Amino acid sequence: MKKLDVVVCVSILLYLTISIESQSISSPDTPPMLALKASLGNPESLGWSDPDPCKWAHVSCYNNRVTDIQIGNQNLKGTLPQDLNNLTWLKKLDVMKNQLSGPLPILSELNSLQQVLIFSANGANVIGTIPNFLEANTFPGLKHLHLAFNNIQGPILLGFENTFLQSLWLNGQMSESKLNGSIAVLQNMTYLTKVWLHGNEFTGPMPDLSRLSNFNQLSLRDNNLMGIVPLSVVNHPKLAIVNLTNNYLQGPTPKFDTFKVAVDMNKGSNNFCLDEPGTPYDDRVNILLSILEPLGYPAIPTHAWKGNDPCPNIKRWSGIYCDQRNIIFVYMIYWGLSGTISPYFSKFLSLERLYLRNNSLTDTIPNGLTTLSKLKWLDVSHNNLSSKIPHFRPNVRVYTEGNPNIGK
Ligand SMILES: *[C@@H]1O[C@H](CO)[C@@H](O)[C@H](O)[C@H]1NC(C)=O
Ligand SMILES: *[C@@H]1O[C@H](CO)[C@@H](O)[C@H](O)[C@H]1NC(C)=O
Ligand SMILES: *[C@@H]1O[C@H](CO)[C@@H](O)[C@H](O)[C@H]1NC(C)=O
Ligand SMILES: *[C@@H]1O[C@H](CO)[C@@H](O)[C@H](O)[C@H]1NC(C)=O
Ligand SMILES: *[C@@H]1O[C@H](CO)[C@@H](O)[C@H](O)[C@H]1NC(C)=O
Ligand SMILES: *[C@@H]1O[C@H](CO)[C@@H](O)[C@H](O)[C@H]1NC(C)=O
Repeated sequence: MKKLDVVVCVSILLYLTISIESQSISSPDTPPMLALKASLGNPESLGWSDPDPCKWAHVSCYNNRVTDIQIGNQNLKGTLPQDLNNLTWLKKLDVMKNQLSGPLPILSELNSLQQVLIFSANGANVIGTIPNFLEANTFPGLKHLHLAFNNIQGPILLGFENTFLQSLWLNGQMSESKLNGSIAVLQNMTYLTKVWLHGNEFTGPMPDLSRLSNFNQLSLRDNNLMGIVPLSVVNHPKLAIVNLTNNYLQGPTPKFDTFKVAVDMNKGSNNFCLDEPGTPYDDRVNILLSILEPLGYPAIPTHAWKGNDPCPNIKRWSGIYCDQRNIIFVYMIYWGLSGTISPYFSKFLSLERLYLRNNSLTDTIPNGLTTLSKLKWLDVSHNNLSSKIPHFRPNVRVYTEGNPNIGK
């Protein structure tokens, strides 16, 4: 080989190397990062001026791919662009405590290469619903979902039980209807340790949390939760902080071990039978709560039944009529009830009349009701009951019309 050839060869090699390097300097994540910068109104405060986003402050890269964006507390305005979904190596997106608005982008593509994805938009006023792209079991690394103090609304979807979330902060939504619906899905989110759902409109009972072996903080205050506080929560070995103030929780006041657990449960701010934790409560209340359970704790009785005496002298419990201490009539007409008729009605031995007309009750009329020796009147008309009608004594008037599937 001649000397010149060698020089040419070397320069070509050099040229190739340089051009490969300069190509690789332009990260494939440059367009989406520029889109993010534009969406935030090109804020000068971030100092994002280098052509290479991997050189930007608050941004980390690996192999020229953006892995972390940490622009919390930067007084940013604007929106989060859908182009964020192109940052397929992103592990951490932290935009909390800014004044962002607009919808949450769908981040459905940020899955395959993720080990950890920390999504925290705490304090940003993003709108919409809890992103359902999180439902699919494709975010094995997603451990922290912090969407507190936004404008999001709607339910926590059941698909969340497939996630590996450890902290779920959805508190303080500022949208009109806030987050609502049931929180039953928590019972299967077994990796959870910190659950902050306060300041929303969640309804329904508190789920059994015995499968959440590491969970230690549960903040549910300022919601519309109902029913009995499950013993799996009260006696949870890891529980350290619990907030239950301002709900419609019923039954006995839970008795937490106050040496281990910091309890936020103001007196009179729920519908517990008695304010003193652990005091025994009236068996009639116990039965009534058992009746509400298969009805999903409907709004009317849950909001109105308060205290430890369902037959008070002064303010009658809605739908409950008593003779002294005995419940003799139960009227639950047009209460929007769905669910099933509890067999526990048969524990009210003095019951004479039971009206459950014009609801959406399903399943059967419990056989146990036939044992009520004082029963004279049973009206379950205009529901969606099915199966055979049990055999009542001949002097019981039973109304079942308007149940298309009854007797079938
Ligand atoms: C992000 O990806 C989508 C779909 O491939 C593409 O249409 C869009 O232009 C990309 N955005 C940017 C800023 O590159
Ligand atoms: C939740 O709020 C939405 C929007 O206001 C409403 O349409 C929906 O019925 C609510 N869901 C429940 C279970 O209350
Ligand atoms: C929780 O998981 C169990 C067992 O897979 C299932 O039967 C139940 O319906 C789930 N509950 C909720 C609320 O998702
Ligand atoms: C929850 O309760 C703890 C202990 O009482 C308290 O320190 C904390 O501020 C409460 N959280 C909220 C959101 O009120
Ligand atoms: C119950 O529903 C039926 C059918 O919709 C209706 O004809 C009836 O008037 C309702 N009864 C009451 C008490 O509202
Ligand atoms: C009544 O229940 C049956 C199932 O038993 C269901 O298919 C039907 O849609 C229900 N009807 C109404 C009006 O809810």
